[in-house]
Amino acid sequence: MKKNILIVFGTRPEAIKMAPVVKAFRRHSAYTTKVCVTGQHREMLDQVISFFDLEVDFDLNLMKPGQNLHSLTSAIISGVKEVMDAFMPDLVLVHGDTTTSTAAALSAFYSGAKVGHVEAGLRTYNKYAPFPEEMNRQLTGRLADFHFSPTEKAKINLLSEGVSEGAISVTGNTVIDALMEGVERIKNIENHPGIERLKQLTGDNEVILITGHRRENFGQGFNDICTAIKKISSQFKGKIVYPVHLNPNVQDPVNKSLRDLDNVILIEPLPYESFLWLMNRSKIILTDSGGIQEEAPSLGKPVLVMRETTERPEAVEAGTVKLVGTDVDKIVTGVLELLKNNELYHQMSTSYNPYGDGKASQRIVEFVEKNL
Ligand code: UD1
Ligand code: UDP
Repeated sequence: MKKNILIVFGTRPEAIKMAPVVKAFRRHSAYTTKVCVTGQHREMLDQVISFFDLEVDFDLNLMKPGQNLHSLTSAIISGVKEVMDAFMPDLVLVHGDTTTSTAAALSAFYSGAKVGHVEAGLRTYNKYAPFPEEMNRQLTGRLADFHFSPTEKAKINLLSEGVSEGAISVTGNTVIDALMEGVERIKNIENHPGIERLKQLTGDNEVILITGHRRENFGQGFNDICTAIKKISSQFKGKIVYPVHLNPNVQDPVNKSLRDLDNVILIEPLPYESFLWLMNRSKIILTDSGGIQEEAPSLGKPVLVMRETTERPEAVEAGTVKLVGTDVDKIVTGVLELLKNNELYHQMSTSYNPYGDGKASQRIVEFVEKNL
C-alpha cells in the first residue's frame, strides 16, 4: 500500500528549500505526496511555486497584512487539522524555523502523524535571536520523529539535546539542490524580462546587494541599517540594489529613509531566478537572511550579516561570512574594508560550500524509505 506524505510550507525560503523535496518524493512510486501551503506568505510564496512548477493540493491562504504571530499560529494549527482529516498522511514534512513549521508540526502531532523536520538542528541557543525562529526550531525539533540535518554540527546539537542518533540523517541542505537547479535554469533562459531589467538597472557598475527582514531588527535596528546604507551610498560609486521585503515593518523605514538616494535602487522582492542572477552579479552581499548565508558561499560572494549571532557557523568559520550586527559603524567599516582591501576581498570570496552537494532531497527520501 502506498504511504501518504504531506509536505507543508508557507513562506518564500521554505518553498525554495522544499521544492526539491517535493519533486524527489513525487518521483517515487511508493508514495502519494501532497503539498499544503499555509499561505503565511502570498506574493513571495507564489513566485517560488511558479518558478519550480509546484502543484499545490491544499492552500490555506492565511496571510493577512501585518499579521501577528498569535493569530497566525492558531489559524495554521486549525487549517492543517482539516488537511490532516482529509488526507490522513503517514508522515508530515515541515521545514526550518517559521511559524508555519512549528504550528504545522504541532497540528500533525495532535492528529497522530509522524513528523519529519527538514533543516533540523540549527541553533543559536539564544531564545530571542533570531526571534521567534530559534524557539520555533527547538519546538519543531521536540515534535519531530525524523530529523534531517544539513551539517554534522547540526546533528551534534540534536545529539546533545538527547535526540537518538538513529532518528537523525545528515543530508546537506536542500537549498543547494534548489540553487543548482536554479543556476542551471538561468543558463538556459535567454532574454528573461526580470534579468534584462536588472541588467539595465545595474549597467557596468559594481553592485552591493542588500536584504533584511528579521523581527529582532524592527525599529532601532532597521533605522541603524538605513543610516549605515546612507553612509555607504555617499562613499560608493556603484549601485546599491535592495529588493525590499514586503513586511510593512521593513517597507516603511526603508522607503522613508532610502528612496531619495541616487545610487540606491529599491525594488520589490525578486523571483528566485532573478535574485540568483543578482547575487552572482554582486560584489558584496549585506543581509540578515538565513538562506542567503547558505547560498552565497557557493557562489563565492562575501556576505556581511546584520545579526549579532548566527545558527549557520560553518560559513563564518570558512571565512566567507562575517557578522556585523546592526551597529552603524561596523556595517559601514565592514563594507568599505571589503571594497578597499583586495586581499581581504579575495579571502572572503573564495568559493566554498559547507552546506551540501545538491543531493539532500534524495537522501531524505532514502531515509524515509528505510524508517517509515
Ligand atoms: C517570515 C518568517 C521568517 C522568515 C521570513 C522569510 C515567521 C515568524 N517569520 O517572516 O522566519 O525568515 O518569513 O521571508 O515565521 N507580506 C506580504 N506578502 C508576502 C509576504 C509577506 O505582503 O508575500 C507582508 C504581510 O503584511 C505579512 C507580513 O509581510 O503580514 C509579515 O509576514 P510574516 O510571514 O508574518 O513575517 P516575515 O517577516 O515575512
Ligand atoms: N530570495 C529571493 N528573492 C529576493 C530575496 C531573496 O528569491 O528578493 C531568496 C534567497 O535566494 C533565499 C531565500 O529567498 O533562497 C531567503 O529568504 P529570506 O531571506 O526571506 O528568508 P530566510 O532565509 O532569512 O528565512
